[in-house]
Amino acid sequence: MDPTTNLSDPSDIRLALEELRSLAPAKIGASGSVAELDGVAAEVTGKASPIAAGRRSLGRIAPDERRELGRAINDVAQELDAAIAARRAVLEIREASAALAGDTVDVTLPGRVPRRGSLHIVNQVMDEIVDIFVAMGYTVATGPEAETDYYNFTALNFAPSHPSRLESDTLYLDYGDVPEDVLLRTHTSPMQARYMEAHEPPVYLVVPGRVFRRDQLDATHSPVFHQVEGLAVDHDITFGDLKGVLDHFAKEFLGPNTRTKFIPHYFPFTEPSAEMHVYYNGGWMELLGCGMVNPAVFEYAGYDPDDVTGFAFGVGADRLAMVRHGITEIRHLLDTDQRILEQYR
Ligand code: DAH
Repeated sequence: MDPTTNLSDPSDIRLALEELRSLAPAKIGASGSVAELDGVAAEVTGKASPIAAGRRSLGRIAPDERRELGRAINDVAQELDAAIAARRAVLEIREASAALAGDTVDVTLPGRVPRRGSLHIVNQVMDEIVDIFVAMGYTVATGPEAETDYYNFTALNFAPSHPSRLESDTLYLDYGDVPEDVLLRTHTSPMQARYMEAHEPPVYLVVPGRVFRRDQLDATHSPVFHQVEGLAVDHDITFGDLKGVLDHFAKEFLGPNTRTKFIPHYFPFTEPSAEMHVYYNGGWMELLGCGMVNPAVFEYAGYDPDDVTGFAFGVGADRLAMVRHGITEIRHLLDTDQRILEQYR
């Protein structure tokens, strides 16, 4: 036990107090933190200090000496308490401002920019095509990628023996009771039939979407690609309307000086049918298939072919994205290689 705890002789107490008075202030002043100061305070004024020991001994001291000694003890105690409080104030301020400084944010540092994704160039092209028609008042709709034989072929006036129905061209799904009834849609045209079934004329519709064919992947073919379908049905729509609208589309998409020409073609769901070609990069390029909606298609959809006429078209989006960006490999469109995709933000 600390020898000072059992001080009983007044002169020993005085000696210990003097020693404390001369040494304690330096210890207090040298404390570098509030926690350290708490330790020093316990040591110099706490239970084991000469101050506490002196107070404990007062009862055993002669009354005439007791008063004076008691005052001496209190003086030292007060002096040290004051020194401790002063040091505590200094340390508290110092620690508070150190905590604040550690907490500050340097607002001049560059921020951490989150990695940003972007639309694929094929989606960009589809959006752009859709926007051009939306500006002319067309509505946008999308349809199922797994489609029935009826909507993909029959309702579009494909003969039962049409070669597109062959397994060599179309990807059939093993689904349902009837074999070869459910397939991956080979074009976005089924939405013509679905939309007309569900809506009364007039119809001004565009349908962006993904389509599938049984093609080997090579530089220019892919088993999955993208189209935007268009359909306009109203009273007295003519082939002149078709040409005017699609020529406007070509000029919006490729530039105001773009020239177009219409070449006769065949599709089961349009009559007459055509391909629209555009003069681009020094040559004629096929941009889309189109035609006047075949009356048989109106009948399948429940429209009266004597009451309405219309035109339809289908644009392939992948090749347009390639032409626009000078890409010669369709496989780059399917790659998940960010070094390629990042170039087309
Ligand atoms: N569905 C045709 C295809 O995939 C494209 C097409 C041609 C759509 C003429 C049409 C159209 O709506 O009228 O090749």
